[in-house]
Amino acid sequence: MSSATADSVPLRRRLASWVNRVRGREDPNQRAARQHRSFDAMSGILAWMLSHAGERLQPAGRPRGRALEIGTGQFMAHAAALYVCGYDRVLTIDRYRQVVPSLVRASLETPVLARRLLSPHVDHDNYVARLRRLETTQYDLGRLAETGVEYRAPAEASALLADDERFDLVFSYTVLEHVPPSEIPGLLASSSRLLAPGGVALHLIDLEDHRDPRADPFAFLSPIGTWSDEACGERGNRVRRSRWRRYFQEATSLNWTFPYAPVRHDAPLPARLATEFQGLEETDLRTSALLAMAVAPRAD
Ligand SMILES: C[S@@+](CC[C@H](N)C(=O)[O-])C[C@H]1O[C@@H](n2cnc3c(N)ncnc32)[C@H](O)[C@@H]1O
Repeated sequence: MSSATADSVPLRRRLASWVNRVRGREDPNQRAARQHRSFDAMSGILAWMLSHAGERLQPAGRPRGRALEIGTGQFMAHAAALYVCGYDRVLTIDRYRQVVPSLVRASLETPVLARRLLSPHVDHDNYVARLRRLETTQYDLGRLAETGVEYRAPAEASALLADDERFDLVFSYTVLEHVPPSEIPGLLASSSRLLAPGGVALHLIDLEDHRDPRADPFAFLSPIGTWSDEACGERGNRVRRSRWRRYFQEATSLNWTFPYAPVRHDAPLPARLATEFQGLEETDLRTSALLAMAVAPRAD
């Protein structure tokens, strides 16, 4: 993905969306905004991820400080949910300018479950007040920034180090698997240095082949030849669990835990594996997601 220009990805998406409209087909992004990228669905994921941090976060009802999301995507649902959960400042950055305001509105249109799902992290009155505040912006990026939810793209985590701002939460969801391996140590090192003392890092990495994750989640482990940056963007970078653990441990000075690392047995591994995966344990190959968590030391 990093070989594309900052504008080329949205342009391709806009073109595909226009072709779908002309052909009378439902735009898959609109469908995603109402289904797995809806505010409801993303609130469920956020609540689950935050629950792993437990008491390391400020309790519900207390100001939670500043959150940084790396990899906004098109829908901004996690940035909105972080704000609703009590982060007064949410900076959400993306390497590519991908946000589509109509998709943001579609994702946030009719939340039904979010107030229940987020209830461990925000009391009901605050949930309603904060969501209303977001609604009054009509999800216009300029007006959102006035509430504290700032979208910055194209932007890189490393560029934020030049500012003094540090974050109580550094968060990403299904982003790191798209980063080309040569760039992973740099991104992990910078994003960890952006944590405030006592700040929490939470990253969910999807380790499945994004081409057909339901039926063939490990297809990309077969010998395919050079795995380009574009393939990392489209299907994932193929990095397996043991390698991720080493990246986290070696690129940062934090003590990482991995409280969620499911192993899938319902789908086949390729008959032949690419050389770099030969010799890895089967559970390593079959791990289909990884939640990485660390807490920055508090200043003495
Ligand atoms: C699969 S999307 C997920 C977006 C969002 N987190 C969501 O779940 O809807 C991955 C996003 O990460 C962004 N991304 C990839 N590498 C990045 C990097 N090094 N820094 C910031 N964003 C990055 C991509 O541009 C893309 O928007």
